[in-house]
Amino acid sequence: MELKNDLLLRAARGEKTERTPVWVMRQAGRILKEYREVRSKLSGFIELVQTPERAAEVTIQPVDILGVDAAIIFSDILVIPEAMGLPYIMEEGNGPFFPNTIKTDADLDKLRIADEDSLGYVLEAIKLTVRELDGRVPLIGFAGAPWTIFCYMVEGRGSKTFSEARKILYDNPGFAHKLMDKITESTIRYLKNQVAAGANIVQIFDSWAGILPSEQYNNFALKYISKIADSISEVPVIVFAKGAYGSRRSIGRVNCDVVGLDWNMEITESRTLIGAEKTLQGNLDPAALYAGFDTIKAETRKMIDQFGKSKHIANLGHGVYPDMNADKVKCFIDEVKEYSGK
Ligand code: CP3
Repeated sequence: MELKNDLLLRAARGEKTERTPVWVMRQAGRILKEYREVRSKLSGFIELVQTPERAAEVTIQPVDILGVDAAIIFSDILVIPEAMGLPYIMEEGNGPFFPNTIKTDADLDKLRIADEDSLGYVLEAIKLTVRELDGRVPLIGFAGAPWTIFCYMVEGRGSKTFSEARKILYDNPGFAHKLMDKITESTIRYLKNQVAAGANIVQIFDSWAGILPSEQYNNFALKYISKIADSISEVPVIVFAKGAYGSRRSIGRVNCDVVGLDWNMEITESRTLIGAEKTLQGNLDPAALYAGFDTIKAETRKMIDQFGKSKHIANLGHGVYPDMNADKVKCFIDEVKEYSGK
């Protein structure tokens, strides 16, 4: 399919673009009343994720309403543990919860490698979305990084310390590597299937990267991200490791095209550590969008100036906060387009 707007893909490959492309992590979701309307007609989040027609609809909403330069398939990183045999529940106001977790060798042995059949609903949603987008913008596929998935599979829910998950790295590293291997193999298959279904680029989200010391991060987490990046050669790969300050130099050596920065990662320092070759993505503080429109524009311009006008994909430094006013998000997007195009 010929793309009418391929700014994101060209920037990801390091090519010159007329302006900086922009999208927003978690752009499809509660910030849009149109999303809440679609979701309210279903039993909840999981039914929405598992109904390809509706998932495609909410994937495209931010392209129509916010004017972003890419769509990201509406799904969740937790579909992987589910496909491996650990179903999740999305508790209203409380986030995800896994009734069963991985504690013993027997639990680990029972886990399946996620296959195409168990994730067919995501692949179907991708095919439908690509058809309905009709080449307007590229579609981003995604998966959680193995370390972040490991945390959920061991802890069963989000945590302040993730001490259960971190304990295993010290106590039973062999067990940790075995679980990481299974998640990695599932993720490689999943991302390859997303690409075959039509995803134009993929992002790996390592939301809990920041809780590990850098040596452990490199040995237990980045190693597996690297394996995934090595196995995806058909489309560009974005790695977003939130809080992985001490590993930026190592991330710069991963076989990916784009490195996402969170809002605490200083831009010039990150460029030096990561090197000149890769495209950087990010990194406006999501809380900056609580400000007035003039401040949002000024902060956006400052960000564009710091990154420079090439090898940059504009985004927030993490997902947009669910209580954010959609007009503020649009102000950020419009300002990136206008200012970087001058
Ligand atoms: O627009 C998009 O970015 C695509 C959809 C998307 C969702 N989750 C939908 C979602 C993506 C890319 C994700 C990734 C995800 N999911 C991450 C990594 C990114 C990050 O923010 O660090 C993580 C850690 C999860 C796990 C998860 N899913 C949590 C912790 C929660 C509850 C907190 C929250 O954000 O609501 C979810 C639920 C979830 N995933 C919602 C959405 C739109 C909210 C569900 C609802 O409609 O109420």
